[in-house]
Amino acid sequence: MKIHIKTYGCQMNERDSEALAGMLTEAGHVMVDSEEAADVLLFNTCSVREQAERKAKGKIGYMRKLKARKPELVIGALGCMAQRLGNELLNELPHLDFVLGTGQLHTLVPLIESIRADRRQVASITESADVLTGMGSHYRPEGDGMNFKAQIAITRGCNRFCSYCIVPYVRGREISREPADVVAEARELVAGGAKEIMLLGQNVAAYGWGGNVNPPPAGVSPFAELLEELDRIPGLLRIRFTSPYPTYFNDRLIAAIAQSRTVCHNIHLPLQSGSDRILAAMNRQYTADGYRAVAAALRTAMPDVTFSTDVIVGFPGESDEDFRLTRELMNEIGFDNSFIFKYSPRPGAKSAAQEDSVPQEVKEERNALLLADLKTRVEAALRRQVGSVQEVLVEGTSPRNPERWSGRTGTNRVIHFLPEPDLEAGTLRRVKITRAGSVSLFGELVQE
Ligand code: SAH
Ligand code: SF4
Ligand code: F3S
Repeated sequence: MKIHIKTYGCQMNERDSEALAGMLTEAGHVMVDSEEAADVLLFNTCSVREQAERKAKGKIGYMRKLKARKPELVIGALGCMAQRLGNELLNELPHLDFVLGTGQLHTLVPLIESIRADRRQVASITESADVLTGMGSHYRPEGDGMNFKAQIAITRGCNRFCSYCIVPYVRGREISREPADVVAEARELVAGGAKEIMLLGQNVAAYGWGGNVNPPPAGVSPFAELLEELDRIPGLLRIRFTSPYPTYFNDRLIAAIAQSRTVCHNIHLPLQSGSDRILAAMNRQYTADGYRAVAAALRTAMPDVTFSTDVIVGFPGESDEDFRLTRELMNEIGFDNSFIFKYSPRPGAKSAAQEDSVPQEVKEERNALLLADLKTRVEAALRRQVGSVQEVLVEGTSPRNPERWSGRTGTNRVIHFLPEPDLEAGTLRRVKITRAGSVSLFGELVQE
């Protein structure tokens, strides 16, 4: 059958969709890019903010017309919103054939067969640990220019229960894969041409702790041990990971990252707020000073490290002063990238019981201020790179100007340059920076 998947939400969802595409093609199905051409339409959904749910529901609702023209079409909603709403979603969207929750994704192939045979609506949303081992497939079609990059999910679920967040409810309890399974998967990907591997989980740095240890004892870090094992894989050039919870960066982990051959010096370190009062209300288990200490320790170990972050503006009760503290801390750390979110109450998450007290205009205003600060910081950081020589992993032709190629530094900056004959994507090259743009750099390949 021809199958199309549309994915909403975070990189974990992207990875799940890729694993599903791998499973489906192994079972003989064919992935297609267009909705019109598909016999089965899958929507891998997100619940993290109201807007994410609205978008997916709107899209699935719109598919009613397609189904009216093509009654044999099978439509499924998968992932986080499917998990959260279950049967409710089937009632709301009667042309939907099934919902498949986050704990049952590994059962997709037989589920599609059974729905084709016996057309009735199905909601499958029981939490199951089998999903941990059942989602190891990869979909890496020949000719995809980005095949030198791959993603591996090392944990699933989350036990942190930040008060605003729906993820622990829709993705279930935090579980880690066996190191041997992760390493085997990485070796296989590298054998198939992968040069850069992104390790994924809602809280990757808590890998191997069984979901209950926070903060971890000094000197011990199963995640550090995993990084060290992966570091030894010949042919693997780079490791990245996202997202780590700040309190898991003990000395053991920081040293492992700094001494590693492959781990990139770019850390996504979710801040959420710079105000201790708001951090406590969010149930984030660190203070602004605790966060500063983690960033400082990482920077001492790796002076070239860059940071990105997630911040929420307009959490219930966030005052001008709380916001000022967030803004100051962001400028102080000097994030190279930040994802700024306007608080959205999620039914079921703890903070939804509080009034969503910050008016929409104030959220917009705070959001705009942080974005403007980010722009200023990034431009200045890029200008400081001019004249230096940086190592990039070559990615291929630049999206905007096919005469140029681009590559990414370990610190996650994009550099554009003129190619030379036989230049290959997925190789490491050095580039001398000649000019800074507003979001990326320009340079010349260094002849070696
Ligand atoms: N596990 C990851 C985050 C996953 S959700 C981590 O802790 O880093 C991605 C981001 O969405 C969060 O970091 C947070 O900034 C934002 N977010 C989560 N719930 C939200 C909500 N209810 N409203 C607005 N933003 C939210
Ligand atoms: Fe959500 Fe917090 Fe878990 Fe991240 S750590 S997924 S923000 S509960
Ligand atoms: Fe969204 Fe689920 Fe990711 S709620 S952010 S897709 S874990």
